[in-house]
Amino acid sequence: MALIALGICGGVGAYKAVEVARGLQKRHHEVVAVMTDAARHFVGPLTFEAITRRRVVTDQFEPGANANIEHIAIASDIALLLVVPATADIIGRFAAGIADDFLSSLYLATTAPVLMAPSMNVNMLAHPAVQRNLETLAARGVRFVEPGEGYLACGWMGKGRLAEPDAIVEVAERILRPAGPLRGRRLLVTAGPTYEDLDPVRYVGNRSSGRMGFALAAEAMRRGAEVVLVAGPTTVEPPAVTELVRVRRAAEMHAAVMDRAAGADAIVMAAAVADYTPAEAAAQKIGKTDGPMQLTLVRTPDILADLGRLRPSLPGQPVLVGFAAESEDVVNRAAAKRVKKKVDLIVANDVLQPGAGFDVDTNAVTIVGPDGAEAVPLQSKAAVAGVILDRVEALLEKKTGARK
Ligand code: C5P
Repeated sequence: MALIALGICGGVGAYKAVEVARGLQKRHHEVVAVMTDAARHFVGPLTFEAITRRRVVTDQFEPGANANIEHIAIASDIALLLVVPATADIIGRFAAGIADDFLSSLYLATTAPVLMAPSMNVNMLAHPAVQRNLETLAARGVRFVEPGEGYLACGWMGKGRLAEPDAIVEVAERILRPAGPLRGRRLLVTAGPTYEDLDPVRYVGNRSSGRMGFALAAEAMRRGAEVVLVAGPTTVEPPAVTELVRVRRAAEMHAAVMDRAAGADAIVMAAAVADYTPAEAAAQKIGKTDGPMQLTLVRTPDILADLGRLRPSLPGQPVLVGFAAESEDVVNRAAAKRVKKKVDLIVANDVLQPGAGFDVDTNAVTIVGPDGAEAVPLQSKAAVAGVILDRVEALLEKKTGARK
């Protein structure tokens, strides 16, 4: 999603920058590693090169690297400059505006936000010189991931230990997320079909492509939300989201959604979950016989209905949105489903209408809510996703008030 310059300085926490780089990549960001001379005493550039799959910048004056004045090129391309670990030395050089290596020149040359994760001995951190430098940088808008307390590598107890890589990635994500209307909200979106296996080669599935759910997840990301996307098997590529969970069967989707429901502000069930699954999946391929064949199918758990039932006990009591694929009496059936499943909105699809429903890029839906039905005419799934999320936003604001 974004290009991040990861500055690595010479502290014992330098090895943790490897995990930070991995964490950023898992969230679909590209990382360019910039190492100070001292950092190379702790970790080899090859480690970062292998992980980031980019040349690691180690020297401002390396022949061949200056044709396009590299620090200026990187400075203008990055969305964030993140320094892990930030030593007393780099904090001092940034604060004083000294540009004696690539990383300190990059700091002066970029207009991207800057995030530093300090790590040093407890007395160094408490020293008035370092404290003053930190204040100077903070006043300039530099943000920090607070160091933790505990045993320091130098053997001392106290504050100065580098924050955990996950926490650093989380803060970086928050800075990078656009300041859209869903910033600070967590959305759980499901997409695609589920496949219910009959045997090792056959399954019962449906024609859902995942496009509607993917459009919702992408639009929610654009609006600044954290998005967890639980997707069944699809050939269409899912968008970049905060967390992608791949599942196959309805039972797996049920478990994935229930595990993550507690932290969600809204759950949008766009997936076409199978209603029935084979009573038993055969361990071996089922051979054919001359006569007809009978399959016994049993009901799958209804994820949305379970969410509706559980909602009063879920922290955050998420807004719930379901989809209903119908081929007749669309609005009435959707309205009945809304009440039965105890959800806020049902997005009804007439699957027989040309250009709407499964496996196409467009959709026409009717959104059934507490105040009646709103027809959303045929348009791209991206645009339909926008209309649905407008309604979700309105419900969230009504529930908890507009958040900053
Ligand atoms: O009752 P019906 O299957 O038409 O309801 C569709 C809605 O319920 C969709 O939002 C779908 O994701 C959800 N659903 C579910 N679990 C099922 C079947 C459907 O969550 N087993």
